[in-house]
Amino acid sequence: MATLKLGVLVSGSGTNLQAILDATEDGSLDAEVRLVLSNVPGVKSLERAAAAGKSAVVLSHRDFTDREAFDKALVTTLRQAGVEWVALAGFMRLLTPVFLRAFEGRIVNIHPALLPAFPGAHGQRDAFNYGVKVAGCTVHFVDEGVDSGPIIAQRAVPVLDDDTEATLAARILQQEHQVYVEVLRLLAAGRIEIVPGSNGQRNRVRITKP
Ligand code: GRF
Repeated sequence: MATLKLGVLVSGSGTNLQAILDATEDGSLDAEVRLVLSNVPGVKSLERAAAAGKSAVVLSHRDFTDREAFDKALVTTLRQAGVEWVALAGFMRLLTPVFLRAFEGRIVNIHPALLPAFPGAHGQRDAFNYGVKVAGCTVHFVDEGVDSGPIIAQRAVPVLDDDTEATLAARILQQEHQVYVEVLRLLAAGRIEIVPGSNGQRNRVRITKP
């Protein structure tokens, strides 16, 4: 049985989800996607899950009175599916402590910027508009802040003179697909640990040797 029992939370196109599904399918990632959960109906991610023969569920945040009630439903649904680790892949909702406590230390996210620069919903656009020369993506643990948890891995890409926001975003996305799967492999291998920061440092991630 696969080591990593994954729930993938999505809101949109799901190219990162696809990269994860492909890697589990070709055996290069020791993980099983137990559930794909979208908060938006009709998105392409749901088609990708179906095409891969994976269970998929839509839970719309609009059907809940508050964030906590929505998060409770997410937790229940994921637990029922046997999910132990959660990968956010373009999931456009902030999670409350209700969710964070339920999967403490077991939630990862991919963000399309080199954190801590350009957190939030439009990382690539904000970096492009700022005029940075190097952009990229970050995989990090999720905490109660916005894209603020301990950083696990980052990949940089150049910003070219003739880039548009779209060409830059596409270059970043290619790296996202690779680095997200690489991080999940490390998680499956038990090689990622959080080390408490000392002397005013934040908690940090250490990748242990195989
Ligand atoms: C990615 O850029 C990811 O970093 C961000 O949302 C986007 C999702 O893309 N959090 P996709 O749905 O995986 O194609």
